[in-house]
Amino acid sequence: GKVAVLMGGKSSEREVSISSGTGVLNALRSQGVNAEAFDPGKQPLSELALGGYDRAFNMLHGLGGEDGTIQGVLEWMQIPYTGSGVLASAIGIDKQATCNLWENAGLPVPEGFQVSAPSEAAEIIRRLGRSLVVKPNKDGSSFGVEKLEDATEETLADAIRRSLAVEDDLVVERRIHGREFTCAVLGEGKNAKALPIIEIMAPNGDYNSVNKYQGNEVRYACPADLPEETARAMAETVEKAYRVIGARGWGRIDLMMEPSGRFYLLEINTNPGMTPHSLVPMAARAVGIPYEELVLQVASEARL
Ligand code: DAL
Ligand code: MG
Repeated sequence: GKVAVLMGGKSSEREVSISSGTGVLNALRSQGVNAEAFDPGKQPLSELALGGYDRAFNMLHGLGGEDGTIQGVLEWMQIPYTGSGVLASAIGIDKQATCNLWENAGLPVPEGFQVSAPSEAAEIIRRLGRSLVVKPNKDGSSFGVEKLEDATEETLADAIRRSLAVEDDLVVERRIHGREFTCAVLGEGKNAKALPIIEIMAPNGDYNSVNKYQGNEVRYACPADLPEETARAMAETVEKAYRVIGARGWGRIDLMMEPSGRFYLLEINTNPGMTPHSLVPMAARAVGIPYEELVLQVASEARL
């Protein structure tokens, strides 16, 4: 059989996806798998339908690749694919929808809501205070994220304007101060299992779209230095959050923890990055799963 590694696409995370997809493609080939790159941003999808592929490794990030649309196309073409299905992908790409479901399930999320115009600044400050994060509701890799301290109506309105240049649908949240974590999950449903938690230590607590993929000023601890009980509680919350979304195959959930020890779920990534800087491979390595084996495992679980 032949595997199509879907990479590239048309989202703002195109370059990240090419980096993830190249890693996956090389890993599959090194294991003797007949794999080809397929870029839906450049190639017509009819070539995917007619290419004789018996599965797709979906390494697309963001809109068009991680949001249920390509998943729907693959369902229609009857090509088994890796990762979450149509509904879980569509929910997972939408940070507000995700947080609403988590909140309904009793899981901890920061207070926040959707916003679409700078004129909402006064109301946001009234409801959430002056320590805020504004972010695109669907975009990934921290593009367009604005972090504010002591926000005024003016600085917040400006931040909203800058984020609106990236996406027209935004979320604003009370900013959580503290430690930043991420936790990968493999599997599905009752068998969903968290990998070791990673702590992300970025300069000035600013893990952003640049230092996420370039340079080496961000430090990581895997497994994170947490009391066993805290780590267990966090992993259980993450597994439940993953199940609530209905994710399958794999995913990665980002969290923040306040100095009090209270932690909050921020978002899920249903096609997590597999670049040289990415964190799911790091977590897998910590339990003795090399990159190539992780790729083979995810590929083997491809389905419709
Ligand atoms: N959205 C990027 C690829 C990630 O979460 O890894
Ligand atoms: Mg994301």
